[in-house]
Amino acid sequence: MPKQETFYITTPIYYPSDNLHIGNAYCSVAADTMARYKKQEGLDVYFVTGTDEHGQKIERKAQEKGVSPIAYVDEIVAGIKGLWKLMDVEYDDFIRTTDQRHVACVQRAFKQLFEQGDIYKGRYEGWYCTPDETFFTELQLVDGKCPDCGRPVEKTSEEAYFLKLSKYQDWLLDYIEKNPKFIQPDSRRNEMVNNFLKPGLNDLCVSRTTIKWGIPVDFDPAHTVYVWVDALTNYISVLGQGSQDDSLYRRYWPADIHLVGKDIIRFHTIIWPILLKALGLPLPKQVFGHGWLVVEGVKMSKSMGNVVDPVSLSNRYGSDAIRYYLMREMTFGTDGQFSYEAMLKRINADLANDLGNLLSRTVAMVEKYFAGSIPSPNTYEDVDKTLIALAEETPKKVARQMAGMQFSVALTELWALIGEANRYIDITAPWVLAKTDEGKQRLQTVLYVLCEVLRHIGVLIAPTMPRTPAKLFAQLGVAEPDLQTLDSLYVFGKIKPGTKVEKGDSLFPRIDVEKELKDVVPEPKDVPAEEPERKAEIAIDDFEKVQLCVARVLEAEKLEKSDKFLKLRLSLGEAEPERTVLSGIAQFYAPGDMVGKQVVLVKNLQPVKIRGVLSEGMILCASDKDDKQLTIVTPEPGAADGDIVR
Ligand code: ME8
Repeated sequence: MPKQETFYITTPIYYPSDNLHIGNAYCSVAADTMARYKKQEGLDVYFVTGTDEHGQKIERKAQEKGVSPIAYVDEIVAGIKGLWKLMDVEYDDFIRTTDQRHVACVQRAFKQLFEQGDIYKGRYEGWYCTPDETFFTELQLVDGKCPDCGRPVEKTSEEAYFLKLSKYQDWLLDYIEKNPKFIQPDSRRNEMVNNFLKPGLNDLCVSRTTIKWGIPVDFDPAHTVYVWVDALTNYISVLGQGSQDDSLYRRYWPADIHLVGKDIIRFHTIIWPILLKALGLPLPKQVFGHGWLVVEGVKMSKSMGNVVDPVSLSNRYGSDAIRYYLMREMTFGTDGQFSYEAMLKRINADLANDLGNLLSRTVAMVEKYFAGSIPSPNTYEDVDKTLIALAEETPKKVARQMAGMQFSVALTELWALIGEANRYIDITAPWVLAKTDEGKQRLQTVLYVLCEVLRHIGVLIAPTMPRTPAKLFAQLGVAEPDLQTLDSLYVFGKIKPGTKVEKGDSLFPRIDVEKELKDVVPEPKDVPAEEPERKAEIAIDDFEKVQLCVARVLEAEKLEKSDKFLKLRLSLGEAEPERTVLSGIAQFYAPGDMVGKQVVLVKNLQPVKIRGVLSEGMILCASDKDDKQLTIVTPEPGAADGDIVR
């Protein structure tokens, strides 16, 4: 028997964090979807994820909590595993860099590289922040001071081991040129070649004496291994490379795909291949750098305060819906916008309407017209043949897109089939056919075709939405595993006439988007811009466009479910109607402080709706750069309500 083709796919190993966000989950869901798809294709798949547990940050956090680093990470790792379970990320192994199997593998590699001269001992020159116990390079300093705490730093040097990146630079350039698929997408490859490789590589400092929470260099235990050398090695340590039982390594290495975010592609395409080459091991076939999930143009991250929690999303809408949204909405490889509104609308349109209704309408019609038994088809007419041809083509189209990691396009192809199946119901009008005997003959074919198309759909959605197929097949009465495989889709017509269907709950209940947005969606936090924006100068007539006037606060109350906004009722003098304005000052002013106060109003600002309340203008405030101090702008006594401010 020929050896079954293997497929080894990895996610990055995550830093232990007690709240991984939906951006982190994106990578694992994509890897899991691909792993499931390759299994459907019949490959011998191995899918690995894990945690990257060493380094100073962990050491400090554990200290703050008064626990040992390992006790600190153990708890978080349990949480991360729980998240993957919730999101149906079904890995074959979970590697922790604190696992003894990993530690041993890293130590073996380090020693080999030292013995063969690819790692050598030198001095690490840098700047040291004594209170923080941290080294920085010249470039990392901010105004010559510690970038973390702002305190003065001292020039220092310490003994350290270095990896000869420079020795392998030309080889790597040549390798990347000869293997254009090694770094994908192409844009990332060009970036690596032009921005990092061509300018030249410096040897890399791969040990530290100041960081204790790391893997000790076994032949020189004052040193610990640099965290990236430690972390990258997970991809082979998890397979038992170099250990007594290296059968998994021999079976699965080299990896087919390392899936990583674009921020860490540099480590995976420069340090990692050089480490492997120096160790005499084959390189992974591909490193794929996906884009980021961004919220209003800013990368989702804890420090930006704009994270979206995958646990609450999955609990509220179901993990299949969240997985679908992630894989459908983001073009893999480029950044994707996360928006609650887009997500809820997609769940309604694609899942509740297109897919859910197709199933419920079909099953209801089989129940109504054929007592719940899938009828036998008669002669296929052109309209049937067109839909059948599309159903036969779709698995091939999906395969082409999945081969290029284009999850979103693959789903678009699949939803084109769902759309056509819905249109087929409209064109064939089963409710009209049901009225005559002749029509009923024709209806047999129509409903048979629909049930079989739904079977195709059930198989094809499975990698992205692992829970839904079981519900769909239960309603269709498809119990045989053989009818749930990708192979079973190459011939149309495998579903057996006479199969009993059974109506069930709707696959995806419709969501009241407006209500949900009001009830559940957190108020967007102000996200700091990455760089302070320099505002362009304006001419006096630009300024004239802004109508400012004095207004008086008649009523003030806190906006419901908001910590930020006060709802103000303003008088603009007798000549003009009163207005409502929402102002983000709730943390600085109690409603009672505001009543009776005069304020300056931007009168001709386009109204906006916030939490269902129309805000007609904006009041001026003075605040410091970080919005920590804020006072409202108020005219000197003597100004009348409605007076123009200019
Ligand atoms: O980088 N959108 O771990 P990590 C999409 N331990 N992906 C995002 C994202 C976002 N908004 N934010 C983060 C590490 N990610 C290292 C990896 S591998 C040998 C060591 C992705 O927990 C990020 O790009 O900071 C990375 O691929 C993954 O989440 C883990 O990030």
